[in-house]
Amino acid sequence: MAVRGAWPTAALSFGGDYNPEQWPEQVWAEDMTLMAEAGVNLVTVGVFAWCRYEPSDGQFEFGWLDRLLDLLHENGIRVDLGTPTAAVPMWLHRRHPEILPQDEFGHPLAPGGRLGWCPSSPVFRRYALRVVEKLAAHVARHPAVAMWHVSNELGGGNARCHCAVSGDAFRRWVQQRYTSVEAVNEAWGMAFWGNSYSSFAEIVTPGGRTAHNPGHLLDFERFSSDALFDHYRAEKRLLKELTPDLPVTTNFMVGLGPDVVDYARWAPEMDIVANDHYTYGPDPLRHQALAFSGDRMRGISDGGPWMLMEHAAGAASWHSINLAKPPGELLRHGLAHLGRGSNSVMYFQWRASKSGTEQFHSAMLPHAGRDTRIFRAITQLGRHLTRLAEIKDTRVAGVQVALLHDNEAGWALRSGLKPVRELGYADTARAIHRALFDRTVTVDVLPAWADLTGYALVVVPGLFLVSDANANRIARYAEVGGTVLVTWNSGIVDEHNTVRTGGYPGAFRQLIGASSEEFFPLETGRQVGLDNGWRARRWSELVRAHDAEVVASYAGSGLDGVPAVTRRPLAGGGAAWYLSTDLDEGSLDELLGRLLDDTGVTPVTTASPGVEAVRRTAGQRSYLFLINHTDAEGSAAGRGVDLLTAERHDGTVVLPPGTVAVLREE
Ligand code: GAL
Repeated sequence: MAVRGAWPTAALSFGGDYNPEQWPEQVWAEDMTLMAEAGVNLVTVGVFAWCRYEPSDGQFEFGWLDRLLDLLHENGIRVDLGTPTAAVPMWLHRRHPEILPQDEFGHPLAPGGRLGWCPSSPVFRRYALRVVEKLAAHVARHPAVAMWHVSNELGGGNARCHCAVSGDAFRRWVQQRYTSVEAVNEAWGMAFWGNSYSSFAEIVTPGGRTAHNPGHLLDFERFSSDALFDHYRAEKRLLKELTPDLPVTTNFMVGLGPDVVDYARWAPEMDIVANDHYTYGPDPLRHQALAFSGDRMRGISDGGPWMLMEHAAGAASWHSINLAKPPGELLRHGLAHLGRGSNSVMYFQWRASKSGTEQFHSAMLPHAGRDTRIFRAITQLGRHLTRLAEIKDTRVAGVQVALLHDNEAGWALRSGLKPVRELGYADTARAIHRALFDRTVTVDVLPAWADLTGYALVVVPGLFLVSDANANRIARYAEVGGTVLVTWNSGIVDEHNTVRTGGYPGAFRQLIGASSEEFFPLETGRQVGLDNGWRARRWSELVRAHDAEVVASYAGSGLDGVPAVTRRPLAGGGAAWYLSTDLDEGSLDELLGRLLDDTGVTPVTTASPGVEAVRRTAGQRSYLFLINHTDAEGSAAGRGVDLLTAERHDGTVVLPPGTVAVLREE
């Protein structure tokens, strides 16, 4: 089970960040009325309230918080209490300017904003733990407090610090990992350009204007993630001492990846794995990006339930043009997160701020107030969540396809010079996820070290870095009957970011029975054909199939007749496929169609294009989420009662443009 401790609300959780410190207390009463109207049952408070609790060094005041917690409790609203360490009080900046994180050129961040602290600073840690301890001791028995929210989006601003303290901490980290300086030289390949170290003291954080070795860059990312994780664990330890029964979490930013810190490796330390997800308005496939993040969230939370901690009710405010959400999207996105395994729909934030950096970020309650389309949509969603109460103990289950994802692979890919600069780590993962999403095939996006038992198909998309242990686990899965699709740019380097020699994709060469000796990246806009009619772009390789069938070869490019897609049948009944190029959408869909047929993977249901379908179950009970993301009428096969409308459907569900249905299936 993914959740340790009690879920904070009896029903599905609904609410958001609540920042009443920005408003006079008279406004709070109106907040309570409107929260009741909307059906809010959980709010995150105090995330940025350090200066409220500790207005000057060592002077603590919790009267404000007490009044707020009492009020929320009287109104039946549970509290996800933030530890306030994301926002350093100005007096602390003044007293200890050295806590500010420094960028790669050694420039400190300015005071103000948030996360203005070096993750390795013992000075900051001391002050942070002091306020956390006072706060936790103060609220320990308050009945409104249901869980802890440590800091905010750790790493969102202070992820890579190059100050002197971080430099020392990095050297200690490296020494601990490698023990000898010779081992560091070997791991990072410091012989290149004669950069070898003769002592640990020579090692610096990889900042400034020079070309650092990829192994060095990768380890700095690991170190930086570990430094922030250490901070999380220090706060968590304290919270567990003082309030052992309250679940502790922090809000992740799981999207396509690579992430700012290594969430999959952090997740086991979360009592509830929580995520903030913001879509990008101009992306026409933003709903599929949302699904990808939800599928990743399940993948790092043992199948969930996970918690959607934040998303936007309308426009964001950090894009260059912040598009409003079109009609119905608020509901579609909320339900899509639920469909993918969240047991909450939470927002940033309850009431739109009138000042501050994010004064134009949307909120559940807009500047214009209650009589607005956003607030009406919020109250409608609140009512829907009540109707959906019975799904709370269900899970997205029976998923037959796994897709592997590892931040370290993404970090490795972006370090140093690569054959093609602008490859996004998750490009191939997203393209394959999309093809499966369009076929209503649910995918678990799993860490590269996950147990693959039971999956019919495992996709290894551009897993640039892979350790021997993970590569072996994948190979074993295939040898005992599994089917694996390995794509280009996988298995290229080991955990030190060192190329695996002898032919690409080094770690999977043997498994796929093929290898390539040279990359042939394609110019932007250029397409090449394959001899079965498929089209490809961006990438090709000089592949040799030594123990595999050739499914398709390059045709009409400099690589005519060279295998492009291969398949190695395996004794256990499975197969290992290799895709050496970036197929266009239609061709990729055909390839996946063949793989699904071969492996017997079935879709969730049949649905018209643009209709998302996903299922949650518990025992004999089963719920089908259908979301029409298009402007046209859609339909899907389904039988049962729509919990949202109480309407029965006996085979076909018609979904008017942009609408949703959740069937209790028979
Ligand atoms: C999140 C953050 C919130 C708010 C929101 C909207 O990343 O946790 O505090 O800033 O984005 O921009």
